[in-house]
Amino acid sequence: VKTSLTGITPTHIPHIGNYLGAIRPALRLSETYRTAYFIADYHALTTVRDPAALRGHVHDVAATWLACGLDPEKTLFYRQSDVPEVFELSGGRAGVTATGQRERGVAYKDALAKGEAPNAGSFYYPALMAADILLFDTDVVPIGADQKQHVELARDMASRVNHLFGEGTLVVPEPLIGEAPLVPGLDGQKMSKSKGNTIPLFEGGKKLRKLCMSIVTGSETLEEPKPAHGTTVFEIYRQFASEAEVRALEDRLAAGNFGWGHAKAALYELLERSLAPARERFVALRSEPAELDRVLARGAERARQTAQATLARVRARIGVR
Ligand code: ADP
Ligand code: TRP
Repeated sequence: VKTSLTGITPTHIPHIGNYLGAIRPALRLSETYRTAYFIADYHALTTVRDPAALRGHVHDVAATWLACGLDPEKTLFYRQSDVPEVFELSGGRAGVTATGQRERGVAYKDALAKGEAPNAGSFYYPALMAADILLFDTDVVPIGADQKQHVELARDMASRVNHLFGEGTLVVPEPLIGEAPLVPGLDGQKMSKSKGNTIPLFEGGKKLRKLCMSIVTGSETLEEPKPAHGTTVFEIYRQFASEAEVRALEDRLAAGNFGWGHAKAALYELLERSLAPARERFVALRSEPAELDRVLARGAERARQTAQATLARVRARIGVR
């Protein structure tokens, strides 16, 4: 069996982009793959510096995975910081990683492009992410398109280690980009918590309605026919709708006399309805943080056994003890 692994950084309650780009495709694999899904709390340190907030976000992300259907009996489900083996692999591998590979990392380049002094976190970020992946002999990493390059760096690192120490020292992973590689946000840019343009996954009622109604659209008049494909409203709608509903919305937009306000209201109704069961589960799960911690701790115990087996193999191959 192949292994699928992915991580979510606990910096916020997950939004619809996280769900469609990573969580939903990852959970769809859990029937046929060995799966390991974790909360990348060390990765959050580049932006979250408030310990209570960080713990809260860990619980937000944990409750999200479970509410969306993750079964912790089937999937290794853990907090990154509970698996210290990650740091041995990440640090140990530094000796064989060219600095150029790290300088090409997107997080590092983004910070430079914005004129920020990138902290060491964004420099080591891809190295830590590679260790997360390689430690579990991962074959595929379900992620949104923005993370693709990081997985490619992990691939390069694994190939380099295998070249030096023999095939099979590390499994070479592949990014798995699903059918919603870059979900647009309210302003039409990539939905991202750092851009403040998100629809949080478990928002409902008036707030959700208001968010949907604030989506930026074209300025066609009510009467004019409107394009569906490539518009934010339609691209989000189609991810949650049945085929018949998708066709119906396309037809209505194309026919004219159907305004963007109508389309946004239809999107709101659809999200309200299709996410209601998960939203209820989320609220219940999130109200028991001690139970969430217990689930993650049990997962970490099992994850560490797998991690230690990989490390033992790698140590033997490279000749350290
Ligand atoms: P954000 O960009 O909001 O900070 P994260 O970096 O925490 O989100 O992303 C967690 C996962 O969700 C990653 O696999 C990422 O690729 C995916 N993801 C984030 N935003 C989107 C989006 N707009 N469309 C598709 N996938 C996304
Ligand atoms: N960097 C990823 C993000 O912010 C989170 C992450 C950390 C991750 N380690 C990972 C994703 C390993 C996939 C595999 O979205």
